[in-house]
Amino acid sequence: TAEGGPAIRRLAEWNADRLHELAADHGTPLYVTDLDRVAENCARLRGAFPDADVKYAVKAHTGRAVLESVRESGLGAECASAGEVRRALDAGFPGDRVDYTAVNPPARDLDSVVEWWEEHPELTITVGARDTLDRLAERGYDGRVCVRVNPGVGAGHHEKVRTGAAPKFGVPYDRAPEVVDDARDRFDVVGLHAHAGSGIHGEEDLAAHRDLVARMGELAREVGDGQLEFVDVGGGFSVPYCEDDPALDLNAVADTTREALGDVDATLAVEPGRYVVADAGVLLTRVNTVKPTPETTVAGVDAGMTDLLRPAMYDAYHAIRNLDASEGSAEGPVTVAGPICETGDTFCDGRDLSIPERGDLLAVGNAGAYGYEMASTYNSRPRPAEVSLAGDVLRERETLAGVTRLERGGGGE
Ligand code: LLP
Repeated sequence: TAEGGPAIRRLAEWNADRLHELAADHGTPLYVTDLDRVAENCARLRGAFPDADVKYAVKAHTGRAVLESVRESGLGAECASAGEVRRALDAGFPGDRVDYTAVNPPARDLDSVVEWWEEHPELTITVGARDTLDRLAERGYDGRVCVRVNPGVGAGHHEKVRTGAAPKFGVPYDRAPEVVDDARDRFDVVGLHAHAGSGIHGEEDLAAHRDLVARMGELAREVGDGQLEFVDVGGGFSVPYCEDDPALDLNAVADTTREALGDVDATLAVEPGRYVVADAGVLLTRVNTVKPTPETTVAGVDAGMTDLLRPAMYDAYHAIRNLDASEGSAEGPVTVAGPICETGDTFCDGRDLSIPERGDLLAVGNAGAYGYEMASTYNSRPRPAEVSLAGDVLRERETLAGVTRLERGGGGE
């Protein structure tokens, strides 16, 4: 139905005929990415944060076409690993638009990034532990460093993604000044960084975000010394997922952020991932089994937690639209279940939806962020394909040979 909150309305905007064509041409499960929407989301971010540096958290969707669209839209790239740094550079981000946020960085990652730094001396490495500073110095690195601080404030849609207060991330707030001093002896300290968590929505999360930003403003005034280029207050801005989730008022969030930061002699930076790509993607999946049970109609589909992990991992709610439902379709509790041998492998449980028929095509909304990225080959399932809404293949469907290719005796059809 076209009624409901912004999440439902956004899913209803996708052209059903076009999605049917793409599913017919490329098979299912299939990720479809609307690159124009990516550009629109980037433009909205830049509009809300006109004097800030907006960087895209590459981890949300690392695909080449998405990265190119983001780069063309003027955003930088915030990378969580050497692999993401490589992808960003390959997609044409200049070194000075690339930040590597090194969380307990494996030696191999540091080796690679330091090697690439020789060619891209303007890239920035964000460091959340003294050990990481030492390990960079040991490798001859004396370039740009940003110090990641643990702000002691977390926010987000699930315990597992509230990074801000977790001791794993960043140097403890109170120790930040001494770490900055130490870093200044050996590197070019250009920024401070903190991130509250992912999926910030609602009053409580926004209050936490505001606290984090205020603390970062204070710290910047304490240690800044006119030497900082930026204060990065993280990403995390959400989009509506549940049917009654309101849309985030991005301009209000931006105003709050600027106000909470206060007067600092440095540029504000933010690094959203989800906001850029979530609603630019759907996952298409075909119903293969319809089974009435006393409590619910089970609609077995060809996508599972291996394709879209979020419902199984975080109990995340994703809107689901039956692209074959007609006006008068019967509604009832429906459980959309994947083919994996795990009870958690469902996209919804007993949700009121139009009751599907075998062969119906379903679209799962907000699949653009942390969708394909978290796909796995569990149950020996090849990963799905991804196409752009315009019909270009962005990622080929994986084959079984692809799944087994690294294995002794594997790689056959
Ligand atoms: N910056 C840092 C340092 C981060 O750790 C993250 C996300 C972001 C930025 C971007 O957050 P976003 O704007 O996308 O919310 N797999 C989870 C989300 C994990 C996010 C981890 N860090 C999910 O599917 O909800």
